[in-house]
Amino acid sequence: MPSRLTDSWVLITGASSGIGAAAARAFAAEGANVLLGARRLDRLQAVAASARHAGAPNAMFHELDVSRTSSVDAFVEWAKDQIERCGPHGRSPAALDVLINNAGGAKGLDPVADGKDDDWEFMMQTNVLGLLRVTRACLPLLVDQPGSCLLNIGSIAGRQGYQNGAAYCAAKHGERAITQALRLELCGKPVRVCTVDPGFVETEFSLVRFHGDAGRARKVYEGMVPLRAEDIAEALVWVAARPPHVCIDELVIKPTDQAAIDKVHRRTASA
Ligand SMILES: NC(=O)c1ccc[n+]([C@@H]2O[C@H](COP(=O)([O-])OP(=O)(O)OC[C@H]3O[C@@H](n4cnc5c(N)ncnc54)[C@H](OP(=O)(O)O)[C@@H]3O)[C@@H](O)[C@H]2O)c1
Repeated sequence: MPSRLTDSWVLITGASSGIGAAAARAFAAEGANVLLGARRLDRLQAVAASARHAGAPNAMFHELDVSRTSSVDAFVEWAKDQIERCGPHGRSPAALDVLINNAGGAKGLDPVADGKDDDWEFMMQTNVLGLLRVTRACLPLLVDQPGSCLLNIGSIAGRQGYQNGAAYCAAKHGERAITQALRLELCGKPVRVCTVDPGFVETEFSLVRFHGDAGRARKVYEGMVPLRAEDIAEALVWVAARPPHVCIDELVIKPTDQAAIDKVHRRTASA
């Protein structure tokens, strides 16, 4: 059965793994066209193939590094070309229905006293500056499109500071502040602006945070049931598919086992 998202155009950053990849498949299953960006092209190729398999009329990918303005601008130019040239599903002039600012993550879990410049720069460049760059480049494609939706992926780290997470918390607090500012700036336009803020989701997030240390990454989810990327993707589809007059400003999604960042119920082997 056609949904509000059938034949829509959805652009997803950070689509090569985790929440972004799951979102590509979930929107594809609604019959949306998906435009996917990230740095790892081999991974994007596989995600695009799975999105086509899930039902996307068009699922295309292009290299994107949100930490560089030139890469963001080239990516959005490419996206515009795809939208305009895609036969019965295309549009001229190009317009987007959904932008999902998802590229980002954490690096390191250190007290400020031991913080690393490279880790801090990654977090600010992706979660904050990258989101601003992509939004700036995409806004002309969104602002006049009835029912369009700008979805930013925040975190519960954007709502509370935690020990050893200063830079990531600062970045996600930044994401939330940007979302609030955009909601005000775009009031009067048909664009919905939303932040979706997850707790623990088992993706490559912790592997990236711990610089590839798989054992340490696994420990984060030990004895508890984390969210899956698909849980967040399902929520993103729901938010974007609300009627055009309904804006879900903020959505916090946590595992049942996680009441707060540092309040996690873990089962021991004997429990
Ligand atoms: N997992 C969680 O527990 C959790 C909780 C709250 C919020 N989040 C947020 O959810 C979002 C997605 O994370 P995830 O959990 O799905 O982790 P993930 O599996 O590590 O995915 C992160 C995505 O971001 C992309 N990315 C990183 N740097 C990039 C750059 N410079 N340019 C373009 N893309 C870049 C990665 O692609 P490439 O490496 O191929 O570029 C990857 O596709 C992030 O914003 C994260 O902060 C995650």
